[in-house]
Amino acid sequence: MTWGLKNRLSRIIKPETGRTVMLAIDHGYFLGPTTGLEVPSKTIAPIIPFADALMPTRGVLRTSVEATTSTPIVLRVSGGNSIVGSDLSNEGITTSMEEAIRLNAAGVALSIYVGSEYEHQTLMNLSRLVDKGERYGMPVLAVTAVGKEMARDTRYLALCCRIAAELGAHFVKTYYCEDFEKVVTGCPVPLVIAGGKKLPEKEALQLTYDAIVHGATGVDMGRNIFQSAHPV
Ligand code: R5P
Repeated sequence: MTWGLKNRLSRIIKPETGRTVMLAIDHGYFLGPTTGLEVPSKTIAPIIPFADALMPTRGVLRTSVEATTSTPIVLRVSGGNSIVGSDLSNEGITTSMEEAIRLNAAGVALSIYVGSEYEHQTLMNLSRLVDKGERYGMPVLAVTAVGKEMARDTRYLALCCRIAAELGAHFVKTYYCEDFEKVVTGCPVPLVIAGGKKLPEKEALQLTYDAIVHGATGVDMGRNIFQSAHPV
């Protein structure tokens, strides 16, 4: 890992704690105006100071986040699909590495769809992004997206996370599941978990606690934060 890459990663995963609380607000890239994110600037402003990192697309970053923020940005750079399209897994790289650098990103994020129709395409997207990331010192977060039909079980998520790490992802975002230690053990890079659909607050906190106890480095959570009545 080059100095620049390590430095950027240490802005996301805090060296003092080895942990991160990332706030994911990239849902609109395929879901449109998601509940709670209809006006992104309104949602983001009060909670950004409490996040270790923010995960937007470049469009929301430019229009809805103050450029004076000190919160590091993990830029969503894959997309090209939509919830009403024919196949969610048909993603490409939407934002260049040069643009990510211009936007002063601390990392870039891309989804892979293991077991889906466009599995190969998304895995090659990841490989190409990692090559660019290595060239420019930019950490790559691989998101193990689950297609509409996919089970989020231990075996499947362990497979996805390991493949992401093997292809060179510097950290991986996945879902919490039973026997989560098995997913962690098989993945040689840090794991953060998504929250999924909105849960009652106590359950979301329990999910987070369980994930951390069983080896997650942190969370990259969206709806369970910004759809909460008490997001802070
Ligand atoms: C989905 O592909 C996006 O990357 C979301 O950022 C991710 O699913 C995390 O959001 P949530 O905690 O709402 O599931």
